[in-house]
Amino acid sequence: MLGPGFHMLSLGILGSGKGSNARSILEAIRGGRLEARAVCVISDVADAGILDLARAHGVPAFHVDAAPFRTKLDGAAEERVIGLLRDRDADTVVLAGFMRMIKRGLLRAFPGRVLNIHPALLPAFPGLQAWKQALDAGAAETGCTVHFVDEGMDTGPVILQRRVPVLPGDTPESLHARIQEQEHIAYPEALALLAAGRVRLEAGRVVRP
Ligand code: GRF
Repeated sequence: MLGPGFHMLSLGILGSGKGSNARSILEAIRGGRLEARAVCVISDVADAGILDLARAHGVPAFHVDAAPFRTKLDGAAEERVIGLLRDRDADTVVLAGFMRMIKRGLLRAFPGRVLNIHPALLPAFPGLQAWKQALDAGAAETGCTVHFVDEGMDTGPVILQRRVPVLPGDTPESLHARIQEQEHIAYPEALALLAAGRVRLEAGRVVRP
């Protein structure tokens, strides 16, 4: 049922990798589990799988060269990304394995509308290879987090989390694979909450009407 707070999301998806999270979102849309449309996919990596995936789903796919920066989206590249998102009327920016820090320009262009997924139970294990961090720390469980993005590294307000036990004999690869299974449930779920008006960001805090 689409309630009174419902809003059909127009998603601009940003990613640098294979795009398995983007796939789970596109499949949720196709399967009627998420009332949204994907208006574009943008990657900073010219041959990223996520761009092929977008094309296969008939979603406009763009490569944006983010040089001279190595780890952030800033300057002319940031402007180009904002322009592409606006041209296609995106109202929600979905970071799906986008390996660059998001800066103020994009956050101001889409206030409270930039989401990310992280492979750990934040605030535990922010940063790179969070599944390996969890394993190295001897954690009994980890998981994944969908959160609103702020200017910090994996610090934004949490929308939802799913837990994953660390099993005896887990390798970084086996643990990451089990976390990804949960990511593929969590991201469409979090976007469905946003579409239903059941979660939003207000003055830097998550509100759940
Ligand atoms: C995921 O593990 C996600 O949590 C992290 O980057 C990875 C992206 O994977 N932010 P994919 O490209 O969606 O398969």
